[in-house]
Amino acid sequence: MTATTSAPIGAPAATSRYAEVYAAWKADPQRFWGEAAKAIDWYEAPKTVFDPNAGVYGRWFTDGVCNTCYNAIDRHVAAGRGEQTAIIYDSPVTGTKARISYAELQHKVATFAAVLKEFGVEKGDRVIVYMPMIPEAAIAMYACARLGVIHSVVFGGFASKELATRINDAKPKLILAASCGIEPNRVVPYKPLLDDAIGLAAHKPEACIIFARPQSTANLIEGRDYDWAAEVAKAEAAGKKADCVPLKATDPLYILYTSGTTGIPKGVVRDNGGHMVALHWTMANLYNVHPGQVYWAASDVGWVVGHSYIIYAPLLAGCTTVIYEGKPVGTPDAGAFWRMVDEYKITVLFTAPTAFRAIKKEDPEAKLLANYDVKSMHTLFLAGERADPDTVLWAERILGVPVVDHWWQTETSWAIAGNPVGLGLLPIKPGSPTVPMPGYDVRIVDEACHELPPNKMGSIVVKLPLPPGCLPTLWQQDDRFAESYLHEFPGFYKTADAGFIDDDGYVYIMGRTDDIINVAGHRLSTGGMEEVLASHQAVAECAVIGIKDELKGEVPCGFVVLKAGVTKSPIEIETEIVKLVRDKIGPVAAFKIAICVNRLPKTRSGKILRGTMKKIADGDAWTMPATIDDPAILDEIAEQLKGHGIGA
Ligand code: COA
Ligand code: AMP
Repeated sequence: MTATTSAPIGAPAATSRYAEVYAAWKADPQRFWGEAAKAIDWYEAPKTVFDPNAGVYGRWFTDGVCNTCYNAIDRHVAAGRGEQTAIIYDSPVTGTKARISYAELQHKVATFAAVLKEFGVEKGDRVIVYMPMIPEAAIAMYACARLGVIHSVVFGGFASKELATRINDAKPKLILAASCGIEPNRVVPYKPLLDDAIGLAAHKPEACIIFARPQSTANLIEGRDYDWAAEVAKAEAAGKKADCVPLKATDPLYILYTSGTTGIPKGVVRDNGGHMVALHWTMANLYNVHPGQVYWAASDVGWVVGHSYIIYAPLLAGCTTVIYEGKPVGTPDAGAFWRMVDEYKITVLFTAPTAFRAIKKEDPEAKLLANYDVKSMHTLFLAGERADPDTVLWAERILGVPVVDHWWQTETSWAIAGNPVGLGLLPIKPGSPTVPMPGYDVRIVDEACHELPPNKMGSIVVKLPLPPGCLPTLWQQDDRFAESYLHEFPGFYKTADAGFIDDDGYVYIMGRTDDIINVAGHRLSTGGMEEVLASHQAVAECAVIGIKDELKGEVPCGFVVLKAGVTKSPIEIETEIVKLVRDKIGPVAAFKIAICVNRLPKTRSGKILRGTMKKIADGDAWTMPATIDDPAILDEIAEQLKGHGIGA
């Protein structure tokens, strides 16, 4: 397929240092990353920048010794930044606002790390964090990092089964949770979900520490559950604090689970050294943000954006970060983001396009913007899903600042392609996340791994080795890592995204090549949802596809064929199935459409024609696949979708 691109807008390319910096990286990657590593404080500076013989495809800074918490917090206090605000907490859902200085944060983190030590966790142990957007979630993560304990944060919108799967894989010694999360329309008690998850999991943690919030009381199980505040008070009274533990650069900092192609998520491993070097480099060069400025990533600590750009990067760079417990709309209105930028003089806002679509839907002329002064913000960054040109142009028009799309994945922890504002903005082409960042040699290939010419759509791959910050492996699964990412295109990392590169070297991301869908910037596996549908006793066969949604980009839509002899009505089954996905995966799946059908369209070899079903549901042009077993089925599906108000 050949694609066309729109004319560039924005500053002239000649003013950007991007080409020069990218060329310098390409000419000598080791020198490039060796220089970048000097921005980090090491206990022992790495002599080896990259060891091609270590790990699955090589490892970065193998002989460096460092600590991420030290670089994020302690070194700034030592350098005189102690009184600066490290964390702004703003929670419209509880009416709470707070500021924590670097010095206060150091005290809180060192104290909580002492609590963790009291529970016997040490370097290399895993701790699961199941918490909402409150400062204690950040404190928990930094405290783990301080000790070399590997944190694994589970997003609050996931239900018990998803949490149980992660408990079984990470085998945490300890779980840290809050009594509840707060959504605009309801309190979400986390403790019952946690208890259910521990009940379901084969692995049992030794203890749980629960942060009690006034909105919901948690029933503590004697001998297993402990009250957060009481444990901290004990450590405070005894004057206990824990120091940063020197770690190998290659020691894991965290595991973050992300949707794979089955119901078993992939445990993406992040190291300490490479991650710090890469994230620190991005703050000045990609985001053009500098020490003392306020950086706000409006995401959640449960996602990679939250890990990288709420928790770690802003503090590594000596900035102020923002923990916002609210939504872009409804808390209280579509002016929420403008209020935040004005109140805290935010320099850079980073969010998902879906948040801007939500604002645009509520306040199409952005009338609420007139109530605020947002001049402090020099750029809006978008990621997590394709930034549709309509949204990009709308945001640019109302804000009058560059709107920069950038493309990355949980696996990479930072942008594969972006527009490096710190090096000088490149012309923006709406629909493209711009150009590959230094570290990434991005290619478009066909199924046989032959490189395709400009404007030809194919699989997007990155030449190995991946740069610092990217996953070295999956948690205790080197084979699955190699199988999932490295085998299909030898010598390259498979992004599982499809797209093309235009004549100017701009990358375009057009969709996934696997069963992952992107719902409101959240990455979900349709395969995982199919496993849940198939577990319903009335279901003989099923298929889940992602269909276009004006607000969330995509939403899942499930089709089920019922077993013979089922007496319940289709509507009853559809309601049960929607509830089942919510109970098993969680509300975040936004699974609200289930349709009972007589048969699923298949090829003669039995493959379900999901792509064609998607085209019908999206109202796109479609042709009858030559390999179809029974053409009448697609017409039936089209009729049934129409009955649900879906499709043309
Ligand atoms: N704990 C419990 N439930 C949660 C949750 C959490 N942390 N986060 C979301 N949910 C629930 C929501 O309440 C909603 O439940 P509902 O079906 O009862 O309404 C469901 O999960 C879906 O949530 P969400 O996808 O957030 O949709 P929404 O309709 O509540 O809000 C947006 C839509 C666009 C406002 C919202 O998705 C948003 O702010 N997105 C920003 C993008 C983002 O953060 N992306 C992360 C990657 S950068
Ligand atoms: P996640 O791991 O949750 O960050 O999701 C990664 C996936 O989201 C990518 O593989 C893409 O499919 C999609 N994605 C992320 N950012 C972008 C972007 N800027 N443009 C298009 N797709 C994106």
